[in-house]
Amino acid sequence: MSAPNNPYDPVGVSALEPDAIQAAVDAALRDIAAASDLDALKSARLAHAGDRSPLALANREIGALPPAAKAEAGKRVGEARGAVRAALDERLADLELERDARVLVDEAVDVTLPTRRREPGARHPLTTLMERMCEVFIAMGYEVAEGPEAEAEWFNFDALNVPPDHPARTMQDTFFVGSADSGVVLRTQTSPIQLRAMLSRELPVYVVAPGRVFRTDELDATHTPVFHQIEGLAIDEGITMADLKGTLEHLAEAMFGSGVRVRLRPSYFPFTEPSAELDLECFVCRGASVGNPESPCRTCSSEGWIEWGGCGMVNPRVLRAAGIDTERYSGFAFGMGVERTLMFRHGVTDMRDMVEGDIRFSRAFGWEV
Ligand code: DAH
Repeated sequence: MSAPNNPYDPVGVSALEPDAIQAAVDAALRDIAAASDLDALKSARLAHAGDRSPLALANREIGALPPAAKAEAGKRVGEARGAVRAALDERLADLELERDARVLVDEAVDVTLPTRRREPGARHPLTTLMERMCEVFIAMGYEVAEGPEAEAEWFNFDALNVPPDHPARTMQDTFFVGSADSGVVLRTQTSPIQLRAMLSRELPVYVVAPGRVFRTDELDATHTPVFHQIEGLAIDEGITMADLKGTLEHLAEAMFGSGVRVRLRPSYFPFTEPSAELDLECFVCRGASVGNPESPCRTCSSEGWIEWGGCGMVNPRVLRAAGIDTERYSGFAFGMGVERTLMFRHGVTDMRDMVEGDIRFSRAFGWEV
């Protein structure tokens, strides 16, 4: 409470002394100049221009002065506060400019930098081809069947009528899991799935079985110890070799284009009788190179046909191993290499390209996920 006639109190207004005002301004200007960022400047503003700053407090003291002294003190404090405010504004403008310049540098995005994003993966062309082949059969009403890669020797050989002394059963050709008498091998063919399918399904059976198979081959342009086959099996009443041929022709057309022909060449497999080698009409020369030395064909060595797989009528001994009545049921089976199919279909000449996993190989087939 101050009244105009209150006696002058020298202690209460010492804050209005020119030295005190000057000291407050000096301190303010020092802090403002030292504020190195906007936060520091905010603190300086609070300390020197805030409600509780020395100059604000001094301003409040003016009312306590005798009227004659008010004007001068008011002028002094006003100028001091003006100087501090101006210094604050100037420093604020500087610091904002600095900040903007720094943001432009720190947050700059170089849109020309190479991306670090990983490219999306894609499935291997062998996988997609195998799927396509399966789809051809699914459309005909077949089921997809599977079997284990580590297979009982009985399924891989015995049940398929491969005799115990057959050369394919030696360690030169077959990977045994554990010792040679363990009874477990890495399947050398997808044919054991035939047995598994017959044992696990009601008749009639129409299955297609893609899968990985293993043989003790060295990796080179035309061999790989791990490759893929696709197996087909149809068991029903009245199945004949004509059904087999028609089915294979349909697959060939689906894979290589309409009009491509297949040929069955007499052969031998223990699990089929009669057996045949499945040849595909050369899809490059379509037979035109045969007896025509002027235009030889490298794909089929001018033979007009290329070997694609094996097939035949399921041997009754195999049907009996699965407990099937051979008086009533008959069936056909076939198996072909998927790598070979990929080679024929896409002109791949080196098997190693298929196993090395180089993305440039897969990329040529397009990104299929
Ligand atoms: N499993 C045979 C092989 O690996 C191919 C084969 C031949 C499969 C005749 C069959 C077949 O189903 O009937 O050489």
